[in-house]
Amino acid sequence: MGLVGPGFVGAHHIDAVRRLGFVDIVAIAASSEVSARRKADALGVPKAYGSYEKLIADPAVHVVHNTTPNALHLPVILAALKAGKHVISDKPLATSASDARQLRDAAQQAGVVHAVTFNYRGNPLVQQAREMIAGGALGAVHFVHGAYLQDWLLESTDYSWRLDPEAGGPSSAVADIGSHWCDLVQHVTGHRIVEVLADLTTVIDTRFRSHAPTEAFAQASTGTREAVKVSSEDLATVLVRFDGGAKGSVSIGQVCAGHKNDLWFEVNGRRASLNWKQERQNELWIGRRDAANATLAKDPSLLGPAAKAYTHLPGGHQEAWADAFRNVMHDVYTFIADGKKPSDPRPPAFATFEDGYDAACVVDAILESHRHGAVWTKVTR
Ligand SMILES: NC(=O)c1ccc[n+]([C@@H]2O[C@H](COP(=O)([O-])OP(=O)(O)OC[C@H]3O[C@@H](n4cnc5c(N)ncnc54)[C@H](O)[C@@H]3O)[C@@H](O)[C@H]2O)c1
Repeated sequence: MGLVGPGFVGAHHIDAVRRLGFVDIVAIAASSEVSARRKADALGVPKAYGSYEKLIADPAVHVVHNTTPNALHLPVILAALKAGKHVISDKPLATSASDARQLRDAAQQAGVVHAVTFNYRGNPLVQQAREMIAGGALGAVHFVHGAYLQDWLLESTDYSWRLDPEAGGPSSAVADIGSHWCDLVQHVTGHRIVEVLADLTTVIDTRFRSHAPTEAFAQASTGTREAVKVSSEDLATVLVRFDGGAKGSVSIGQVCAGHKNDLWFEVNGRRASLNWKQERQNELWIGRRDAANATLAKDPSLLGPAAKAYTHLPGGHQEAWADAFRNVMHDVYTFIADGKKPSDPRPPAFATFEDGYDAACVVDAILESHRHGAVWTKVTR
């Protein structure tokens, strides 16, 4: 493996792959040779490149991980595909549906394995929810709702490349974390979001950017700062309609004090409900009208076969964010190691560029709905 963009999440890609035990981590590419070397030394990776082109040209690199800021996804991934390398990209796949479609088509043409890290799919109880819904435990689903809220952009002195359309794309919070929620509920329910009505807000429209680069969730240093006008959203309310008739809503925001990585969804069916919260990811709430509500613990002896396959510890032993991330890497690298073709059936936590394209289509529809004054807008795929 070689990784381009060793920032906040890049280190977790390396950690997850290292835990597999059958993949050599060969090289890192950053924006300069000096920063690449520094990161490579810190992460115990042998080679360091000052450009992604050099990493992609290294014959020892068979799989390219892309964890660069969003606007770089298109050139980095296209170059990797052109060189015939497998690609694992972080989300959002691209900054628009048309760019994401270009990447999906290029990946299909290249015939390589392509994946997007929608890592919440790798949680055992997410797979349990999926199995229960597919098996009819909830009956017909009529309501899917939830939120993805954080607070690391609450202060006007908080800044991220995500807020700069040149680096992050036209959407900030929706593309960054809303894309996770959309993929997750589509994955769990088996239904696609087909229409949206969105109201987007830029709560903090002037921010004070530090000159030193700051990673996500990190406090900026107290050096000189410059005022920057922000136009992309840090808060969103979206109504959604699914194929199959279910309706729903999601709140998305990165300016909500007290909410750290507060991703949750609830699915209400005619027989029962399910609720999963990322911050309490070892519990799945089951709601009923004619019996007591229950909390199912992540205990492999109580889970269905698909969920059990993603569980590595007995009941009472907490599994967490990094374990789900490792589960996704295990699905993708086992697929590659087994020499499977991209069209072969995939394990459920393995999201492809097709899924990345799908989420980009929903994000585009959300932006379009807001632009037209919060009107119902079809998701064009
Ligand atoms: N799956 C998840 O839960 C998750 C979490 C965080 C971020 N992400 C995604 O991962 C990506 C990176 O986000 P982050 O928070 O790690 O950002 P970050 O700013 O912490 O890291 C980005 C890295 O890319 C490097 N970089 C910039 N230009 C480069 C270039 N030309 N060549 C090589 N490297 C370059 C930067 O120096 C930095 O090290 C984004 O697409 C983001 O949406 C996903």
